[in-house]
Amino acid sequence: MFGQITKKLKDAKRIAFVTGAGISQESGIPTFRGKDGLWRNYDVMKLATINAFYDNPKLVWEWYNERRKNIFSAEPNLGHKAIAELEKFVEVVVLTQNIDGLHQKAGSTDVLELHGSIVKIKCSVCDFKSEILTEFTDMPPLCKCGNILRPDVVWFGESLPKDIWQEAMIHASKCDVMVVVGTSLVVSPANTLPIYAKQNNAIIIEINPDETIMSSDMDFSIRSTSVMALPEFVSIFK
Ligand code: OAD
Repeated sequence: MFGQITKKLKDAKRIAFVTGAGISQESGIPTFRGKDGLWRNYDVMKLATINAFYDNPKLVWEWYNERRKNIFSAEPNLGHKAIAELEKFVEVVVLTQNIDGLHQKAGSTDVLELHGSIVKIKCSVCDFKSEILTEFTDMPPLCKCGNILRPDVVWFGESLPKDIWQEAMIHASKCDVMVVVGTSLVVSPANTLPIYAKQNNAIIIEINPDETIMSSDMDFSIRSTSVMALPEFVSIFK
């Protein structure tokens, strides 16, 4: 699968993965823009923006409750596990747009969650933050201060947490290899990470069954699923 570049890859000391919904697709979590993608069946503007939340917090919370149920019952697949195993052989960082926590569940120890986490909640007004592993029964859930709690995720139109984004850019700028897995690369700023890597002469590899808008910028593309491709990628370093 990686025939032509295997030799070059063996010299890599630092590998950064940029992951998206596709890596968790084989764990039973739907993607956003694929054939059965969430944004094909739901209106993103009514569910994943701050205005949608203030207009109808109950609706947004019900949707997140459903996603929480689905995600909490999901298990990491061979793709997540392969990335975790790679830490035994080289320095690995995972820059993920996913909020499902499956990289950590698979054993990855250096994961930056660019878009937040499904287990995290925060108050929409005060500084309260927490982690909740169950569904909420009172809709919408309220903070002790009396205001509405919200999922601690990044919605459309919101900025990524500054410290996390700066760290992600640093990792992207100093990796030897960047592997972009299971993302359509249409959402900014995460889709600029391969550009930072390329500026530093990193080898950029895409693992995706379909072409993306940045496929032509890749040094190497594997048209396969992450479960099929990642164990083989990791075997190069063993
Ligand atoms: P998308 O749904 O946009 O893209 C998923 C990508 O995964 C597509 O390019 C698919 O071809 C690919 N794919 C599908 N199955 C795969 C598999 N088994 N193995 C490998 N690749 C597979 O999801 P993201 O790019 O993650 O943000 O979307 C980015 C952001 O948009 C999300 O984080 C979310 C969303 O709206 C927010 O909610 C802010």
